[in-house]
Amino acid sequence: MYLHCFLPLLCLGLAITASGQDEDASASAPDAHASGLLGTQSRLFPPLPFRPHLPFRSRPKRPLPIPIPRPGFGGQSVDADMDDDEDGPHTSFVRCGPDFGACGEGQCCSAQGYCGQSPSYCQAPDCLIDYSTSCDAQKSPVGDDTSLISRPHIGDVPYGYTPVYSCTEPKTVALTYDDGPMGYTGDLLDLLDAYDAKATFFVTGINSNKGQIDDPSFPWLKMIQRMFRTGHQIASHTWSHQTLDQLTQAQRYDQMIKNEIAFRNVIGGIPTYMRPPYSSCDSDCAGDMDDMGYHIVYFDVDTDDYNNDTPEDIQQSKDIFDNALKLNKATGRPLLVIAHDVHEQTVYNLTAHMLKRIRTAKYRPVTLGECLGDSKMNWYRWEKPPVKDKAMNEETSISGSKPISPDGTCGTKYTCLGSVFGDCCSGYGYCGNSTLYCGSGCLASAGSCSLGDEQPSKNATFLRYRWQTPR
Ligand SMILES: *[C@@H]1O[C@H](CO)[C@@H](O)[C@H](O)[C@H]1NC(C)=O
Ligand SMILES: *[C@@H]1O[C@H](CO)[C@@H](O)[C@H](O)[C@H]1NC(C)=O
Ligand SMILES: *[C@@H]1O[C@H](CO)[C@@H](O)[C@H](O)[C@H]1NC(C)=O
Repeated sequence: MYLHCFLPLLCLGLAITASGQDEDASASAPDAHASGLLGTQSRLFPPLPFRPHLPFRSRPKRPLPIPIPRPGFGGQSVDADMDDDEDGPHTSFVRCGPDFGACGEGQCCSAQGYCGQSPSYCQAPDCLIDYSTSCDAQKSPVGDDTSLISRPHIGDVPYGYTPVYSCTEPKTVALTYDDGPMGYTGDLLDLLDAYDAKATFFVTGINSNKGQIDDPSFPWLKMIQRMFRTGHQIASHTWSHQTLDQLTQAQRYDQMIKNEIAFRNVIGGIPTYMRPPYSSCDSDCAGDMDDMGYHIVYFDVDTDDYNNDTPEDIQQSKDIFDNALKLNKATGRPLLVIAHDVHEQTVYNLTAHMLKRIRTAKYRPVTLGECLGDSKMNWYRWEKPPVKDKAMNEETSISGSKPISPDGTCGTKYTCLGSVFGDCCSGYGYCGNSTLYCGSGCLASAGSCSLGDEQPSKNATFLRYRWQTPR
């Protein structure tokens, strides 16, 4: 049962109808394991009511607590009224766009169709890439192309043409956050630690004038390394948040590969999971994701947080989440929740609420991979082939003068000791510092095998404290 869908919404409708009516879909499907996910789910769990996920149209109504760029995604009106530019819309009269053509070299065509060079013209995703040469979207991370990394469809979770809408492991909730990291993300990581919760981040490389995620002069690089190190899952939300359906195939590849290069620069590997911006990925797009070895992931609980980013409105998002949990608690059906770490109320209000409810319902807040029963080894691809077999045989060799792992792999060649990925080398040849890596099978020859003392803080009081003292 392949689903070639032009609209993800329609696609989910099809998926639910198809899996609901066709009990043995997996038997007749061209790709049994691909359809197995939806088929299995429909038998175990009734489908959730689905809310359409519409493109961003709102922006935060309150100023951000620290001076970072305002989040602004795809809203055609975003920044039209910015008055802090030396060459704002009111001083530029050079038109561009479908009716006027391209701007000159080094110029950006704003969403409103004016040429300029300041952030309000160039920021992603608004800047019109077909009529510009200098949009943020057109910038590139440094370093080698990742397109030669081999991309087998590892694991049992379907790729490309068969998108993932729901988790499969009972009593799990996958909280997923799109569009960051951004100014609040560090606090969100503190909060997740305080609840000993794992989440998944669909990271965008250069949106909203935030700078590049692999540029060490911004905080994003260290934030993403922290996510990786502390067991959250990192997935791709494209380089600059364009609508993939509206791009050429070459532009779609560019959107994925540039984010990969940046990820490789930050964590040493590239993700296998992606979510299309605006949940928009038609069959051409799905085919490209399939070729590039990506799982396409949507959601089955839309918190609608981007429309509710005020103290008054956020209750509506809480209600959506509470209802979904209430409806499914009895069967243990898992939830795949979408939210956005770029919004204040999401980070400082909604998330703690969801985490408390998850605990009360005796669910577990886990990564997407875990809620799908997908091994951690399948969440990323590494530039060098996994050293699995060699690592297994390395057990007895003497630890000593190996170089520190630059890419998260370990074994014969590298030690994890002192690496950013964690000090322990797992039996599969990857560095980390949870029990997965330091527990049974850990290779003493390529790192430490004792769990460190970095325990998640259980003290949630400090979060309230921080909330009351905006920086
Ligand atoms: C959190 O949300 C509630 C509504 O659910 C609201 O009453 C409260 O003011 C919000 N808190 C903050 C700090 O914004
Ligand atoms: C995990 O790794 C980081 C970075 O190397 C380190 O600071 C931290 O203490 C480690 N935690 C554990 C549990 O080993
Ligand atoms: C929790 O954090 C608050 C604020 O920093 C502090 O006053 C309190 O003593 C801490 N409690 C514990 C048990 O560490």
